[in-house]
This record gives sequence, C-alpha cells and structure tokens, in this order.
Amino acid sequence: MKLAVIGAGNMATAIIKAVLESKAVSAKDITVSDINPLSLERVQTEQGVLTADSNISAIDSADTIILAVKPQNLEGISREISGRLKCGQLVISILAGTPLSRLALSLGHDEIIRAMPNTPAQIGMGMTVWTCSEKVSAEQKQNGQAILSSMGRELFVDDEGFIDMATAISGSGPAYFFLFMECLVESAVSLGFDSETALSLVLQTALGSIQYAITSGRGLAELRQQVTSPGGTTAEAINHFNSNDIKTIINGAVAAAYRKAAEMGK
Ligand SMILES: NC(=O)c1ccc[n+]([C@@H]2O[C@H](COP(=O)([O-])OP(=O)(O)OC[C@H]3O[C@@H](n4cnc5c(N)ncnc54)[C@H](OP(=O)(O)O)[C@@H]3O)[C@@H](O)[C@H]2O)c1
Repeated sequence: MKLAVIGAGNMATAIIKAVLESKAVSAKDITVSDINPLSLERVQTEQGVLTADSNISAIDSADTIILAVKPQNLEGISREISGRLKCGQLVISILAGTPLSRLALSLGHDEIIRAMPNTPAQIGMGMTVWTCSEKVSAEQKQNGQAILSSMGRELFVDDEGFIDMATAISGSGPAYFFLFMECLVESAVSLGFDSETALSLVLQTALGSIQYAITSGRGLAELRQQVTSPGGTTAEAINHFNSNDIKTIINGAVAAAYRKAAEMGK
C-alpha cells in the first residue's frame, strides 16, 4: 500500500505511528505533506517517512490518502487536489463533522472512507467508528480497515448518522474521562494528598476499574453496586452524585457534543 497523509498534526502523527508499529505500511511507502514546515520536519525526523513539498505531489503515486487537517482547511485543500484524484485512489477523511456528501462534492471524488478516531490512537488504544461511500470497493474497505485497526479498535457502520453519535461518545469521550479524573485529583489534593500521590491514586483507580470492567464479564451497574455497601462511604458519594443529577449533566454534555457535530455537518 502506498499511503499519502495530508496534514502532519496530532492525529496524523498518531495514525502514522500506529500503521508503522502494526507494519500495515512501511515508512518508505508513506508520503506526508503539510503547509507547516516545522510539523513536516518533525514527522519526518520522528517517523522516518517521506515528505512532499505540496499536497499534489504527496497524492500523486498513493493508492490511499489520509486527510488529517482541520475541517476548515478542506476547501483550500480541495481547490488544490480536486481534479487530481484518480479513480481507484481511496481517501480516508478523519475531519470531524464533515459528511461524505460534502467531502465528495468538495474533492470531486467518490471513493471515500469517513472515520472518527480518538486520541488514545496515539498508543494503539483508540476507538474508531467509520463508514464509506458506495463506490468504495471491498479491497479498499479492507485496506482502510487495516489502517484504522492499527490505531486500536474499529467499528464499521452502514449508517453515516452513527458517525456524529460516535463523535459525541468515543471521539470526545477521552476528554470526559480526563475531566472526571482532573476533578478527582483536585478533590484528593483538597483532602490532603500531595498532587503526585493524588494523580497516582486516580490513574491506577481508573486503569484498574476499566480493566476490571472489561475482564470481569459483569455489567457496569453490578460492578458499581459491588463497591457500594448500603450505608457505607461509597453510598454517600453515589447519593451525592445522584442528588445533583449526574445523569442529566452527562446526558446534556453528550447531547451538546452531538448537536455540534450535526451542526458542523450542515
Ligand atoms: N484531536 C482529536 O481528538 C480528533 C479526534 C478525531 C478526529 N479529529 C480530526 O482530526 C483532524 C486533524 O486534527 P489534529 O488535531 O491532528 O489537527 P492539527 O494538529 O491542527 O493538524 C492539522 C495539520 O494540517 C496542517 N494544514 C492546514 N492546512 C493545510 C493544507 N492546506 N495543506 C496541508 N496541511 C495543512 C496544519 O498546519 P497549521 O498548523 O499551520 O495550520 C496542521 O499541521 C481534524 O479534522 C479533527 O476534526 C481529531
């Protein structure tokens, strides 16, 4: 597979690192372009990939092209590369809130995968939800899946509507968990722990809880109840969460992210 990556920012770096580690593609078969020469130099030095001095030359001999720029950069890139994309070239877009129809119209090309990865992709622990346009062949789907699965788990969805939903859950989700952990660290410090110990307690508790949830075979509510003896300390904390309507807060946050993703797609 010959891969071109347009954009050498955070997500592009995560994807390149992941495909190299999984050996899905070798460094000599990856060409990266970016308008920011510093980003380009960094990715070349750190990942040993080839670089191109323009998006047009990056895509020239690629069979798969990853679009890893901000959604607002799509129009500029399209002005440059639309009309240059050849039949058989697969475009994988990770642009948030940018539907297949807009990508196809803008790029003048209809072999497109739309994927929503998340930042744990940086360590091969990502969750990517993806879909594709009708013109994507079975072989292109397989190639796309090989790239996306190198970043962690991937889930194909037939209905593009699930991508905006996934944006609000798995795309933005890492930030929700980080926020919760930040709050817990602050609480631990206010109880009297030094910040290093507080962070260590919180991270190990999060890690242990997640591994336990994955491996125990039990449901989340059952695991919560297991820690929550009636009249005990955890019950006090859970009652406090519930009396402050934690479910409404979380539902509201997810609904706001989903609304934003849907708005961006209009
Ligand atoms: N971060 C996440 O958690 C996450 C999760 C899922 C999806 N995404 C999506 O991933 C995409 C990339 O996000 P990111 O965080 O990696 O962004 P980023 O770090 O800002 O990287 C984008 C790179 O593209 C460059 N660029 C801008 N215009 C360009 C052009 N015309 N040609 C070539 N390169 C150009 C930027 O250069 P300058 O810095 O000079 O502008 C920057 O180096 C976004 O669309 C985002 O919605 C992000």
